[in-house]
Amino acid sequence: MKYGYFDDNAREYVITTPETPLPWINYLGCKDFFGLISNTAGGYDFYKDAKLLRLTRYRYNNVPYDTGGRYYYIKDGDCIWNPGWQPVQTALDNYSCRHGMGYSVIEGTKNSLKAKLTAFVPLSDSCEINHLTLTNESEAVKEIDLFSFVEFCLWNAEDDATNFQRNYSTGEVEVVGSTIYHKTEYRERRNHFSFYSVNREIAGFDTDRASFTGFYHGLHNPDAVIKGESKNSVAHGWSPVGSHHLKVTLAPDESYTAIFVLGYCENPVEEKFVAPNVINKKPAEKLLAKYQKDEQVETALNELKAYWDKLLSVYSVKTHNEKLNRSVNIWNQYQCMVTFNMSRSASYFESGMGRGMGFRDSSQDLLGFVHLIPERARERILDIASTQFEDGSAYHQYQPLTKTGNLNVGSGFNDDPMWLIAGTGAYIRETGDFSILDEICDFDNDHTKAAPLLEHLRRSFNYIVNHKGPHALPLIGRADWNDCLNLNCFSETPGESFQTTGPSEGPVAESVFIAGLFVKYGKEYISILRHLGLNEEADKCAGEVELMTKAIETAGWDGEWFVRAYDAYSNPVGSHVCEEGQIFIEPQGMCIIGGVGVENGMAEKALKSVETRLDTKYGIMLNQPAYSRYHVELGEISSYPPGYKENAGIFCHNNPWIACAETMVGHGSRAFEVYKKTNPVFLEEIGEIHRTEPYAYCQMVAGKDAPSFGEGKNSWLTGTAAWTFTTISQFILGVTPDFDGLRINPCIPKEVESYDVVRKFRGKTYNIHIENPAHVEKGVKEFYVDGELHSGNLITPEMGGQEVDIRVILG
Ligand code: GLC
Ligand code: GLC
Repeated sequence: MKYGYFDDNAREYVITTPETPLPWINYLGCKDFFGLISNTAGGYDFYKDAKLLRLTRYRYNNVPYDTGGRYYYIKDGDCIWNPGWQPVQTALDNYSCRHGMGYSVIEGTKNSLKAKLTAFVPLSDSCEINHLTLTNESEAVKEIDLFSFVEFCLWNAEDDATNFQRNYSTGEVEVVGSTIYHKTEYRERRNHFSFYSVNREIAGFDTDRASFTGFYHGLHNPDAVIKGESKNSVAHGWSPVGSHHLKVTLAPDESYTAIFVLGYCENPVEEKFVAPNVINKKPAEKLLAKYQKDEQVETALNELKAYWDKLLSVYSVKTHNEKLNRSVNIWNQYQCMVTFNMSRSASYFESGMGRGMGFRDSSQDLLGFVHLIPERARERILDIASTQFEDGSAYHQYQPLTKTGNLNVGSGFNDDPMWLIAGTGAYIRETGDFSILDEICDFDNDHTKAAPLLEHLRRSFNYIVNHKGPHALPLIGRADWNDCLNLNCFSETPGESFQTTGPSEGPVAESVFIAGLFVKYGKEYISILRHLGLNEEADKCAGEVELMTKAIETAGWDGEWFVRAYDAYSNPVGSHVCEEGQIFIEPQGMCIIGGVGVENGMAEKALKSVETRLDTKYGIMLNQPAYSRYHVELGEISSYPPGYKENAGIFCHNNPWIACAETMVGHGSRAFEVYKKTNPVFLEEIGEIHRTEPYAYCQMVAGKDAPSFGEGKNSWLTGTAAWTFTTISQFILGVTPDFDGLRINPCIPKEVESYDVVRKFRGKTYNIHIENPAHVEKGVKEFYVDGELHSGNLITPEMGGQEVDIRVILG
């Protein structure tokens, strides 16, 4: 069942009912100021950091679901309604929500009054704009009371949701004209405030939540709206809110617009006040002056659209498959921007208070983002590297505001170091900018311990070399990519964190996955070294990669597939000898992407095993058989009921690894089949089963052991976005940045006849036309640059002019 449709020309998903299976959200903001907005206008805003600088409140885990947002109440006679249906839930005569690139448009009609709310964050300012248009489509004059509503968060979202003994006494506001200023803690150490303003004269306002709603009322039946009158309340403590009351008279066919702005401002410490405890409002006034007229707002929205036109022109494909085009050209790349910005901090499943920027996660997010804005990727790489420890290991996460690592989810995840090489390699391949390796980055955010980025990569590589176990495979530490495979944890106490309990590194438990990762990105590091002329070191590293490959092919091989790990007793995990969890997806994907077993048949065998043992109609499960009971020696993985999350869920992030691995052995049809199974665009028709947004990947789909087989969860913030984009754009469609140029090496379903890719790369535009007359899955037979036949399949910078026509014939 569908709950809307794609409008590809507008690059929008149009939701046609407010009652989607779950809130279907969008992200506003590109750089510093962000908003989450659901199809019913729920969500919240923050500046840079969803935990430390949250502007508005949102209640996770509430009843009804999705409570808190930018709400507009319309009182038309006795009828009270919201354009996005929530929170009053008055049935609308017409409803739609268009989620676009960085903006959302929610439209509702009731009793011939149409309300259209356009929400976006302009490119150059720290604010969310809500442009509201009311149109009287009836034949009579309408007298309308319009109320706005946001609820302020007292900045630190975690403290705001827990420290009530203090917070009920600290809230402060100021109201000047049509602007409500939220200034809790501004009197002391904060030099920032927020404001919520409207470009119209107001009939009243409220800033105290209980005054607006009535104490035992809620957002669904606020007292002020029912009475048609604001209380002009000024918050002292309790819960500060922002609400304006506007009186609107509309003749038949007449329209009325109002521009609401929710913004964030900072003042220099010495210029904070104009009078005792009175905010210096200059920065707010300056910002507001830019958004007083409808034309100003339209210009800002058009700038945002043009920005996305440009970003999405870097890679676009034209195939005969409409869903593929829309996924590659629009939504997958859009999600890559979101995961780059948010890492794993703020979604409808990530509270914004827990995990900030993950070392491993953010490094992988770069793979799908780097082509969009390489300069920002560069900055991110240096930020990540600066949190690395001197021995090459890493904090598992850092907060975006402070950019310093923290131990909330621990450290000692022994795959982390290699991902820094992955992200850096991707950046250099995209840009050719080897100078990034000379940038000096701290270790552990300590300036006295800084070294060039290249040295950070070296420590990453050597960390694995120096941390091996009894089978010459890498020690797993706390866990590897699978945060829940905690082989050194042995937790028996409820509530203990699986990620921080127990010794961080046992001397025995090993990971075959890290071994595969080391081979893959060890080779990447070697290529980088060779480009720098560091051949001696490169040769030495090649020896290490060779050793690791051998270790995988011996101790890491189970006969039909790659073993997953060895536990703290040196017993295999993910082997046919195990009672449960006999086969895992991760090492099959990563070892083969690293090239292990491609020549000797192991890869083919392992992929066959994945197909027969792990595959389902909704995607490939993480492991099988699922763990049916808690295994103390395996940790969190066995804590999940069978079929969920890391315990035999369809963990979308590593499905593309299998698709990539299939291309390594030339299976284009199978690679594309794997690609399609977890792709939300291809699942639009089964929305009632899949339930999450049809335009965003989710982290996990329930596996076949779960009662809700096929149900998606944890949409948006997942490494799936970057990895699927890498898979489809580079491994399947075959347009891959290489250190020396752009390499064309498609691996596609046999039946594909032809397709076109436009790729902007290092300042040039390549129009690439692929033909497949012989219906093969892989293999470049002829390669023409501007009509001239060339050998190989690499486009180097000196070929052609600004625009280059490439024709590739497979065979
Ligand atoms: C989550 C984490 C990611 C991890 C994965 C598997 O998505 O963000 O870092 O690799 O789970 O456990
Ligand atoms: C939980 C999740 C996992 C995540 C980890 C780290 O264990 O299952 O996906 O990566 O927490 O926060």
